[in-house]
Amino acid sequence: MAPTRYAVVGTGGRAAFFYSAIVTDFKDTAELVAFCDTNQTRMDVANSRVQELGLSPLPTFRAVDFDRMIEETKPDTVIITTIDRVHHRYIIRAMELGCNVLSEKPMTVDEIKCQMILDAVKTTNRQLRVTFNYRYAPHNTKVREMLMDDVIGKITSVHFEWLLNTQHGADYFRRWHRDKRNSGGLLVHKSTHHFDLVNFWLGSHPQTVFAQGDLQFYGKENAEIRGETNFYSRAHGSPAAANDPFALHMEDHPQLKAMYLDAEHEDGYYRDQSVFGDGINIEDTMGVLVRYQSGAILTYSLVAYCPWEGFRVCFNGTKGRLEMDVLEQSYVNSGGDQSQEGAVAHTKITVHPMFAPPYEVAIMEGEGGHGGGDPVLLNDLFGTPASDRLHRAASHVDGAMSILTGIAANKAMRTGQVVQVKDLVQF
Ligand SMILES: NC(=O)c1ccc[n+]([C@@H]2O[C@H](COP(=O)([O-])OP(=O)(O)OC[C@H]3O[C@@H](n4cnc5c(N)ncnc54)[C@H](O)[C@@H]3O)[C@@H](O)[C@H]2O)c1
Repeated sequence: MAPTRYAVVGTGGRAAFFYSAIVTDFKDTAELVAFCDTNQTRMDVANSRVQELGLSPLPTFRAVDFDRMIEETKPDTVIITTIDRVHHRYIIRAMELGCNVLSEKPMTVDEIKCQMILDAVKTTNRQLRVTFNYRYAPHNTKVREMLMDDVIGKITSVHFEWLLNTQHGADYFRRWHRDKRNSGGLLVHKSTHHFDLVNFWLGSHPQTVFAQGDLQFYGKENAEIRGETNFYSRAHGSPAAANDPFALHMEDHPQLKAMYLDAEHEDGYYRDQSVFGDGINIEDTMGVLVRYQSGAILTYSLVAYCPWEGFRVCFNGTKGRLEMDVLEQSYVNSGGDQSQEGAVAHTKITVHPMFAPPYEVAIMEGEGGHGGGDPVLLNDLFGTPASDRLHRAASHVDGAMSILTGIAANKAMRTGQVVQVKDLVQF
């Protein structure tokens, strides 16, 4: 069978995860045919990486020439790794032009764009997958398996707290994510992973959502209240940034320098803004209460300035309780070894049966990012996957369901009201 042809739109930090895999481990089943971005310098960086991996440079197309790229290079599937705000434009146009789509999370950032995508899937009859790598991490897969196998009975409630630390968490406040229009805020951009996991673990979908959230740590006003007087707008060229542990010094990282500092003359994308500047309109401290169709109740918290990174999740069921603690290693996108993204430093799963002593469950973590989940995801996307009783491959419905909790949470924060997920979009 001829290899599947892929074009990549959005050639920033995340794109390399996909195109590097296609041109190396999956070259028998997948072929990379083009790059597309608004920024030529970043496309050129992607091409140097491809050349380092032994391929000839690929044709590059500016975003305005997306249609021409599809016509000339004839991809079967378009991989979308742009900023979140424009995912829907490329998802819809690629499907209209006859391609299937692999979209990075979040599928999109609000309910209007989500509806446009759902409608386009129907009218074009093309396939849209969202690449939820966390599902494939061995510890997350193990929990799904145990809940499916009724180890603690019917799940009645879930308590889930996710901690982003002062390195990785801060990164969302340095660049485009800090504007809610670009990312939907962290309850969409980041929590899409977590709400997808809950949907996947429970085999259910969210029904009603209430949320509270605030900017309590990052931002100029919060720093001023704590007595800070030393401010700057971006790290590059700012003496005030020299001793700021939150500053990102791009000139010290060849990859960050090539991809962002040397590219900013084209589009004014500043990757190293101060997290204590003005103009941040996303939350850094969030709490969400969700009722699922299955009846389960979720209490969820996300804080973006913690001393460690990882998560704790507890499931209460009719036969007992399951607890999982995961300590992750921190990673700044494009600032280091991508296989370290979401790498796991420590994981523990404990089952407390209702009338028997607790026991720990062994987990086989693998090599590669997200506890060994990334290579499994890549094989699922580009290789020859085996059939999967856990159904880890995520469809556009999973993509939508994972963002609708965060979109509903944003609405609840705006209005102070409980939000019914069914009122947001029609499937
Ligand atoms: N699953 C994961 O673990 C994971 C990790 C990191 C990022 N991501 C996702 O990947 C996507 C990209 O994130 P990133 O960290 O690589 O960001 P990035 O800023 O490094 O890259 C984004 C790219 O999009 C390009 N772009 C912006 N507007 C565009 C437009 N209108 N048309 C075409 N290209 C445009 C930018 O020039 C840039 O090259 C995001 O959706 C993010 O949520 C997922």
